[in-house]
Amino acid sequence: MAKRVVVFGASGQLGVELCAELRRRGYEVKGFARAKLDISNGEQVERVLAEFDPSVVFNAAAYNQVDVAEREPLPAFEANGLAVRNLALACRQNDARLVHFSTDYVFDGTLGRSYTETDSVHPLGAYAVSKLAGELYAQAYLARPLIVRTSGVFGPGGLNTARGNFPELMLRLAREGKPIRVVEDHVASPTYAPLLASRSIDMLERDLEGIFHCGGGQAVSWFEYARLIFEKAGICADLQPTNEREYRTAARRPKFSALDNARMRECGIIPMPPLAEAVASYLVARLG
Ligand SMILES: NC(=O)c1ccc[n+]([C@@H]2O[C@H](COP(=O)([O-])OP(=O)(O)OC[C@H]3O[C@@H](n4cnc5c(N)ncnc54)[C@H](OP(=O)(O)O)[C@@H]3O)[C@@H](O)[C@H]2O)c1
Repeated sequence: MAKRVVVFGASGQLGVELCAELRRRGYEVKGFARAKLDISNGEQVERVLAEFDPSVVFNAAAYNQVDVAEREPLPAFEANGLAVRNLALACRQNDARLVHFSTDYVFDGTLGRSYTETDSVHPLGAYAVSKLAGELYAQAYLARPLIVRTSGVFGPGGLNTARGNFPELMLRLAREGKPIRVVEDHVASPTYAPLLASRSIDMLERDLEGIFHCGGGQAVSWFEYARLIFEKAGICADLQPTNEREYRTAARRPKFSALDNARMRECGIIPMPPLAEAVASYLVARLG
């Protein structure tokens, strides 16, 4: 009999890829978009898990509006923190494994190198604190959660979400033909959603537990990343470098938050391909 799996946040960039990849691998998947189930509602979460009795719950739902969260920290904390408590409690009740996703923003970005799973956390704002709370709640109630931290997620699902993603923002600005200013002093490891989904399922199938980093595998500034997108798309955009001093945002962000996928390597999970390859795949996939 096929293993039953529930995916929350099923219409986000990661959620759609998880549902597709799990189905490809023969799982029986029940995906819930926010419109169908808000994970902040503990009773509904409990009811769904009791009814469907999954062996695994993937939580791809998240409040990701980093700057807005500084104005309204409560919704961020509800979705990213307290709601994960709902999931963890319901998973414990139903003896299901929880695969939860977190962020490079749990770090302060001052280390000067890519972060491994053993580096100390120090979130810099409301979004980051809420995501760290989610990690802690998963660990507080479950003996063996799988927590996958990622960075700068982009996938074709972003074409259909209000929030979108960085490549779509760049492509839109290029179409408008205006100068595009992107920070060159902030470094992350952009991660292609289909690969994130498939590596996370690999980890689950290997029965791994604890915190894993699954970044795109390459530390790159947002400016370099934008340049790569335009190069791969064959677009000649008016791209100019800027920096955090000139480009102020409501939330403080870590300057160098690239992730070192150290545990993935140690556990023999397939490494991520070069970012150029992931961007090229994205540009094909976004055309449907
Ligand atoms: N995107 C990034 O750059 C990035 C970077 C680092 C880590 N991450 C983490 O990676 C994971 C996947 O992110 P993603 O890029 O797939 O995000 P996404 O595209 O923004 O999708 C998140 C989904 O969660 C849904 N959602 C929000 N609040 C919810 C709630 N209370 N109940 C149920 N669903 C809810 C959203 O629905 P609505 O659209 O209706 O709100 C959306 O469909 C998240 O854990 C995120 O924190 C993302």
